[in-house]
Amino acid sequence: MRRSTLLLAALAVGAAALAQDPGRLTVKVDQPGPKISPMLYGLMTEEINHSYDGGLYAELIRNRAFKDDPKRPAFWSLVTSDGSAGTIALDTVDPVNTTALTTSLRLDLTTVPAGGRVGVANGGYWGVPVKPHTTYRASFYAKATGGFAGPLTLSLESNDGATTFASATVAAIGGGWQRYSATLTTSDAAASTGNRFVLSAGHAGTLWLSLVSLFPPTYHDRPNGNRADLMQLLGDMQPAFLRLPGGNYLEGDFIAEHFAWKNTLGDIALRPGHRCCWGYPSTDGMGLLEYLEWCEDLNMEPVLAVYAGYSLRGEVVKPGPDLEPFVQEGMDEIEYVIGDETTTWGKRRIADGHPAPFPLHYVEIGNEDGFDRLHSYDGRYAQFYDAIKAKYPKLQVIATAGVHLRTPDVIDDHYYRSAREMERDVHHYDRTPRTGPKIFVGEWASTEGSPTPTMQAALGDAAWLTGLERNSDVVVLASYAPLLVNVNRGAAQWGTNLIGYDAGTAFGSPSYHAQKLFGRNRGDTVLPVEIGQPTVPPAAAPTLTGGVGVGTWLTQAEYKDLQVSTGDKVLYKSDFSRPSTRGWRLRNGQWQVAEGVLRQTAGDAIDCVATTGGRDWGDCTYRLKARKIGGAEGFLILFHAKDEANWIWWNLGGWGNQRTALEQCSDGGKHEIGQSQAVSIDTGRWYDIRIECQGHQIRCFLDDKLITEATDEAAAPVGPLFATASRVDASGEVIVKLVNVGGADQRVAMELQGVTEVAPGGVAWVLSGQPGDVNSVAEPEKVAPKQVALEQLGPKFSYDAPAYSVSVLRLKAK
Ligand code: AHR
Repeated sequence: MRRSTLLLAALAVGAAALAQDPGRLTVKVDQPGPKISPMLYGLMTEEINHSYDGGLYAELIRNRAFKDDPKRPAFWSLVTSDGSAGTIALDTVDPVNTTALTTSLRLDLTTVPAGGRVGVANGGYWGVPVKPHTTYRASFYAKATGGFAGPLTLSLESNDGATTFASATVAAIGGGWQRYSATLTTSDAAASTGNRFVLSAGHAGTLWLSLVSLFPPTYHDRPNGNRADLMQLLGDMQPAFLRLPGGNYLEGDFIAEHFAWKNTLGDIALRPGHRCCWGYPSTDGMGLLEYLEWCEDLNMEPVLAVYAGYSLRGEVVKPGPDLEPFVQEGMDEIEYVIGDETTTWGKRRIADGHPAPFPLHYVEIGNEDGFDRLHSYDGRYAQFYDAIKAKYPKLQVIATAGVHLRTPDVIDDHYYRSAREMERDVHHYDRTPRTGPKIFVGEWASTEGSPTPTMQAALGDAAWLTGLERNSDVVVLASYAPLLVNVNRGAAQWGTNLIGYDAGTAFGSPSYHAQKLFGRNRGDTVLPVEIGQPTVPPAAAPTLTGGVGVGTWLTQAEYKDLQVSTGDKVLYKSDFSRPSTRGWRLRNGQWQVAEGVLRQTAGDAIDCVATTGGRDWGDCTYRLKARKIGGAEGFLILFHAKDEANWIWWNLGGWGNQRTALEQCSDGGKHEIGQSQAVSIDTGRWYDIRIECQGHQIRCFLDDKLITEATDEAAAPVGPLFATASRVDASGEVIVKLVNVGGADQRVAMELQGVTEVAPGGVAWVLSGQPGDVNSVAEPEKVAPKQVALEQLGPKFSYDAPAYSVSVLRLKAK
């Protein structure tokens, strides 16, 4: 276990730089609220960022079946000793029969002097990890000809070939395809990753290889199993469920590339693998049964997502007869998970080696089907819902977008936002009706930090989780995404991911540690809290600055006479007299300057933006003229445009030309600020637009009429304290989770209302760091929770929450 548990001196009093007036936290122990869902904290997974191949799935050989690239044996190389010669090439002529192994690697050992060798090497997924006193299991298919019949040497060696850490010999290779296996055991070599796996021989001839596999010891010693260090990190979170197998990975780019679970069963030689939507091939070594066994190993329940007939590039299977085979595929999948020996797919699972059915309460229909532009999800969901409910009435059927034809049991909401936005939205589910569907927050993350989140993101995450836990009567499941990232260059497709690793080392990010604290300290019943924020005014928020810009969304428009001024001083005046967009930063769409205007002419493009100008324009007035030429919406006018992730735009005639509102994007998270108005934009006429910014105030005028007013989000204080509390029903223990997102230590006057006695000693886990702190392969535990002894506790006591911290206090109340 990678936990860092340092017992520190009591922290109940006396931190260095406390804010003057304490915060208050009253826990209403005498007014217990709803039960907390026992399944609240779970995991979401998919093949992204080399989560499985090159990640959790412990296979060490990359391109083991030689299918990654049809033109060359990618990730394989020829090894020759001095004076030796040979060649390697892909071969599809005589594949290993009755398997999915359509390609092999042909090795011609042309010249091999006595004592020399010719072979092939694989460098793994960014290295092959060698650990001391460790046994590796190798297997491969082979056949030989041309005078070569063995022996074949397998070795784990340094990339330069200078050091061999372990080796094994297969004495004879026959003339027909056959599977061979061997074990290699290291001695006291230091742990390293700059290594390769080599199969070589000392005689001339020809050798074919297919499905070359090498496994280190796996978690629970499962064959075809998982990397132990990652499983340990995941298990330490004590997650209750695993949402599988995605995410976009479930859907694939095209229908033909969705996660076809039947192709992922049984012997790995029978699995064809498929192209994963994140741009690399998936071996499907992590197949449906492996997912389920992963659940079993960590005491999680699967939340099974079934493919629902929508793929990422827009292909859709129409509801009705066309969809029926996909509904059946989903029904078979459920049967594989929970069916007994009397069922076709239950029988198959038993034959695959797992007699007992797995627990299953939730089935999710698709993923993010709100992106389906044909709006067919309502019908598709209904078809799946009816089939599932008819056979398994107790299964809870999750919808991934709004539907009307059926009332879903649960709706899956996704949030990728800045930490600040998470903090600002902690009351999101306070307002959710308790009579409708339950909520699964199936993907969420504060997105500061790459490839893994910063401490600042962890604070946003922890604040957000206080809101989910407090509302756990309606939010029944929650899972962060993405979960895993291989941190090597080129391995990741997503910015911010919970757990990072290379071939040898895995680490949890600060967000991981925050979630681990929440997951391990859940409690059974919500205890309402009342937070009194410290009264010291926060330092004045800096005013926003940046460039100016124009944009469109599914609309063609033209702009002219753009002027930026402050007081009487003109800072910028557009000049569209020459046909050039020089000086403008363009994103999406077809932008051109012609006839004295800047024009965007692509009608089907979204998020088309052209920005220009200084980073320091702040208290300014922006004026321009705009005309819509065609399309679905109106104008986007940008200001305080610092970079692609930080800006404000006035969205005139947005939302299908229904509304006009200000939207602010902070660190990539976009949301509305101020009130929106029912103002739409006409085609073909010029509008005068004026935006006045003063401090944090924004006033927007259309044809000199004030339409929208707002305060930018930097001005409005959030927190710094966020909290939730719960009770462990069996013991009466009170668990308080307190997040201080501010940069000052905060003394908090705590009161357990309705409690007469509290044991004087208690314990807290405290995670703290600087906002920019991250963990990494080099410093895997730079930010990690510390255990702290609490003293002098009672129904009322003081707790000092360090700056930028997440604290979990466990109090023995009577
Ligand atoms: O978590 C990464 C991706 O984000 C998921 O695959 C998808 O569901 C979402 O858009």
